[in-house]
Amino acid sequence: MKERFPKDFVWGVATASYQIEGAVFADGRGESIWDRFCRMPGRVAGGDRGDIACDHYHRYQEDVALMAELGVDSYRFSIAWPRVFPAGKGKPNPKGLDFYKRLLDELDKVGIKPMATLYHWDLPQALQEEYGGWVSRDVALYFQDYAAYVLEEIGERLPWVVTINEPWVAAMLGYGYGTHAPGIRDFKAALTAGHHLLYGHGLAVQAFRELGIAGQIGITLNLTPYYPYSDEEKDVCIARRMDGMTNRWYLDPVLKGEYPADVAEWFEERQILPDLPMEDLAIIAEPIDFLGINYYTRGIVGHSDEDPCCVKEYPPEFPVTDMGWEIYPQGLYDLLTRLTKDYGPIPMYITENGAAFPDQAEEGRVHDTARVEYLEAHFHQAAEAVASGVPLRGYYVWSFLDNFEWAFGYSKRFGIVFVDYQSQARAIKDSGLWYRDFLRKK
Ligand code: FCB
Repeated sequence: MKERFPKDFVWGVATASYQIEGAVFADGRGESIWDRFCRMPGRVAGGDRGDIACDHYHRYQEDVALMAELGVDSYRFSIAWPRVFPAGKGKPNPKGLDFYKRLLDELDKVGIKPMATLYHWDLPQALQEEYGGWVSRDVALYFQDYAAYVLEEIGERLPWVVTINEPWVAAMLGYGYGTHAPGIRDFKAALTAGHHLLYGHGLAVQAFRELGIAGQIGITLNLTPYYPYSDEEKDVCIARRMDGMTNRWYLDPVLKGEYPADVAEWFEERQILPDLPMEDLAIIAEPIDFLGINYYTRGIVGHSDEDPCCVKEYPPEFPVTDMGWEIYPQGLYDLLTRLTKDYGPIPMYITENGAAFPDQAEEGRVHDTARVEYLEAHFHQAAEAVASGVPLRGYYVWSFLDNFEWAFGYSKRFGIVFVDYQSQARAIKDSGLWYRDFLRKK
C-alpha cells in the first residue's frame, strides 16, 4: 500500500508535551493549567497527573532511538509554554528551551525531521490566574511573544510548525463543558476562548513570516464528519449544524476569513455569541502552508424534539475503540475529499490518527491486532484520497507512546509503543512492528 503514496510522503508519530514529558518541576518550568487541573479532586480519572508521565524529559534519547528503530521520517511533538516562559510572559527561561534543543540534536543525529506544535493545551497557570486564560485577548498576544521567541531561537531548525492544536477541544472542553483544564463551564466564554485561540494562531503565523523562516506553518484542527441518521431534511439539517459547530467554525475563519453565518446565527439565538472583533479575521486568515488534521471518528446525528438543542446522537454502527469512538475509516476519505472540494487544494497532513485499546504486555509483547487493523484501514482510506487528487503530504500516528490521556489519565493506551509506568520500560507493540515493516517497504 505504501507505493500508493508519493515518494516524498512524510510518515511520522506524534505526542504532546504534557502527555509524555513529566519533569514538571525541572529546570525552572512553571506550573501549567493541567498541573493545576489534575490536582482538583475528581477531574482526572484515578487522580492521575502528568508529574512523571513517560519521563520523556529524561528518556528522550532512548525514545528517539526507538523512533529510529521504527524508521519514521518525522516526529511531531509539542513545546511546553511554561518551560519557556514559566509565568507565561516576561522573562524567558533558556533552560526550558534547552530541552527542545537537545531533542532536536538527537533527532538530527538519526535524520528524523521535527514537526513542533507551539500550543498543545499546557497554558501557563499564571496566565490563567491573572487573565482568565484564553478568554482574554492579552493571552493571544502573549502567545505571539512566546511563539516569536521560540521561532527566533529554533525556528530555522523546524521544517514544520503547528501553531495551535485543536482549538475546538481547547475552547469547548476547557471552557464550555469543563472536562479539560481550566475546567470552566460557560459556553459564551468558550466561544470567546475559541476566537482568541484562532487569533493567537494568526499572530503566530505573522511572527513566523516576519522572521522569514524557511519552513512551513499551519494549524491542527480536530475534524469530525457528521452523517445524518436519515435523508430526511430535519436530520440533514442537524448534521449540517453539528458540522458547522465542530468543523466549519474553525475551518472557515482560518481558510476563508469568515465565521459561518448559519452557525453564528444559531449561537446568537441561544445568546452565547460573544461580541467578537471581526477585524481579527484578517489576521486569523493569514495564509498558512498546510492544514493539520486530527481524525479519530465520526458522528451520526438526527433531529429530536426532546433535546433542547434538537440533537440526537445515534449509537455507532461499527465497533468502537476503548474511548467508545466508532471505528469509521471511510470518514477519513470523506473528510479529506470534502475539504479539498470546499476549501481548495490546500496541502494537508494528518497530524493525528490512532486508537486506544486495553493493551496488556505479555513477556514484553503486546498483540494489539485491533490497532494494526485500525491503522491499516485508515492508511487505505488516505491512499484512496490521494488517488482522488487530495494533496495529502503526510501522516502521523497518534501516538508514539502510551501516555497521559487528559481527563482519562493513564487508563487509555494509544501508543504503538507500550509503556510500563512502574518501570518506565518501553516495548514496541505489534502495531509498532507492523508500522516499522510498512515503512521499510518501497
Ligand atoms: C486529541 C489530542 C491528543 C490525544 C488524542 C487522543 O484530541 O490532540 O492529545 O489526546 O486526542
